[in-house]
Amino acid sequence: MISESLTTSRLVLRRPRGPDAGAIFAYASDPAVTRFMSFHTHSSLEDTLAFLAGADEGWAARTDMPFVIERQGMVIGSTGLHCEAPHRFATGYVLRRDCWGFGYATEALRAMLELAFSLRDTRRVYALCEQSHLASARVMEKAGMSREGVLRAHSVLPNLASEPRDMLCYARVRE
Ligand SMILES: CC(C)(COP(=O)(O)OP(=O)(O)OC[C@H]1O[C@@H](n2cnc3c(N)ncnc32)[C@H](O)[C@@H]1OP(=O)(O)O)[C@@H](O)C(=O)NCCC(=O)NCCS
Repeated sequence: MISESLTTSRLVLRRPRGPDAGAIFAYASDPAVTRFMSFHTHSSLEDTLAFLAGADEGWAARTDMPFVIERQGMVIGSTGLHCEAPHRFATGYVLRRDCWGFGYATEALRAMLELAFSLRDTRRVYALCEQSHLASARVMEKAGMSREGVLRAHSVLPNLASEPRDMLCYARVRE
């Protein structure tokens, strides 16, 4: 069973709750933050409430398990695990702009990897980033994931373009 809350040296990662809507909207409505994300930049609080409703459904089914990232009691971003098969999870991360550059994404990603691999059946955790997104690729390298290659024309990143983009794939695998 996946824990709904965990702590790292500087962060608390926990299941999102209704009162987080304002803090999530603050970063999810920032075009600089959502540039490389697979969801549309939030244009109203309704978008954020829809995300929170989806988070509740995902947690109930244990298929999508988003976590907000808290630093000193404030929500600064989110991460999560998406269970695609009993042995395989996808992950990702997003942070408020004023919290970039402090190693928080790497710390959150390491925690997600540890959590996923604490489950006996997990063999593979992977994440994708757009080919030009060097900061995100660096986060995955620092968290000890291996670069597997480029997935051509894989993901539509709606805030960037309508054409599918080439994506870098990084993974950690338990042999
Ligand atoms: C990408 C993102 C998650 C990085 O978070 P972060 O907490 O700043 O990441 P970290 O501090 O752990 O590490 C960032 C690394 O990228 C490096 N980096 C930053 N910008 C870079 C750039 N333009 N080119 C190359 N490396 C870059 C940093 O120097 C650092 O590496 P270092 O520790 O070796 O110096 C954050 O910028 C973010 O939330 N962006 C918006 C959402 C997003 O794009 N999410 C990922 C979608 S795939």
